Amino acid sequence: FHYDLLTGRHVVITAGPTREPIDPVRYLTNKSSGKMGFALAEAAAEAGARVTLIAGPVALPTPERVQRIDVVRAQDMYQTSMDVVEQGCDVFIATAAVADYRPTVTADHKIKKSTEEIHLTLVKNPDIIAAVASHDKRPFTVGFAAETQDVISYAQGKLTNKKLDMIATNDVSGSNVGFNSDNNALTVIWPGGHKVLPLASKRQIAKQLIELIAIRYKD
Ligand code: PMT
Repeated sequence: FHYDLLTGRHVVITAGPTREPIDPVRYLTNKSSGKMGFALAEAAAEAGARVTLIAGPVALPTPERVQRIDVVRAQDMYQTSMDVVEQGCDVFIATAAVADYRPTVTADHKIKKSTEEIHLTLVKNPDIIAAVASHDKRPFTVGFAAETQDVISYAQGKLTNKKLDMIATNDVSGSNVGFNSDNNALTVIWPGGHKVLPLASKRQIAKQLIELIAIRYKD
């Protein structure tokens, strides 16, 4: 691992889940702990980059020399990401498990228990990484893909559809890797190549991924 791989570069990373409010005391979310994204922020800072970490609600300390911006909802993560990209950055890594949908309305007051069945209507959230990749100040854009089946083919689809430079896929069907685990295993795909990063701690995987990103970015 080279400690000056990203010196002078501004790297932006999204991490953790988002929280989509149903009413003042309830929300929709997912199992992301933020560990993968925080490990990447730490590795990018160690590689010499200036790092902005846009974090959903997680219980993790901020890595050294990392500027952290806390957000809650997908819409907040989207707006913050757009502001940071507008100001200019070199690499954007989307590790966050962004909620694809949010409740169409957030009730002003706690919803009361009533009928046997109630219905929640959801509306699509903006796709952050797709917006970053099509921005006129487009940075080198790296996505993640969490899949439970056909991992590689779904990831290849996301690489193409979202116009990414690179995608890191993890199989989240087991509990030893992916969401909340301290370990991960990735298949990293870019147009014209791929590399397997076998099971290791998220900190080790993060260093390897930052190295790969730095090499591809310089190309
Ligand atoms: O946080 P941990 O507990 O350490 O777990 C790590 C992780 C499993 C969450 C991480 O490794 C991971 O796979 N993150 C992506 C999770 C995900 O929800 O992927 P996706 O296939 O739904 O989304 C694909 C890509 O689009 C991702 O880069 C995601 O950040 C991005 N996206 C998705 C939806 C959206 N509205 N905006 C986005 O930017």
